[in-house]
Amino acid sequence: MYSEKVIDHFTNPRNVGEIENANGIGQVGNAKCGDIMRITLDIEDNIIKDVKFKTFGCGAAVATSSMVTEMVKGKTLEEAMEISNATVAEALGGLPQTKMHCSNLAADAVHAAIKDYLDKKTKV
Ligand code: FES
Repeated sequence: MYSEKVIDHFTNPRNVGEIENANGIGQVGNAKCGDIMRITLDIEDNIIKDVKFKTFGCGAAVATSSMVTEMVKGKTLEEAMEISNATVAEALGGLPQTKMHCSNLAADAVHAAIKDYLDKKTKV
């Protein structure tokens, strides 16, 4: 069954939406189910000042998206890169085994957004 934290983040997701003029954008799809997550970041001086997500997916994917935004806000890029899918699932009090693949989107999307930011930066 789902933990209370999963239900809380699913019914009351934090940081939903899209940052206008985001300087890091990451979008990943889940090959198993076709669900999609998009993360937008506002990064300044190596710190994630703001983060928002849009997830077209199941409840577990929404909950992990919401949780990962709370985990990375205010963090340095290095700290955010260290957050793994497993840490997000752990922070939610675990996910049912059959739903573990849903947590893959969260950290992957954040990492993709950070890479996007770093790529753009080196091109300038
Ligand atoms: Fe698709 Fe959970 S079933 S992310």
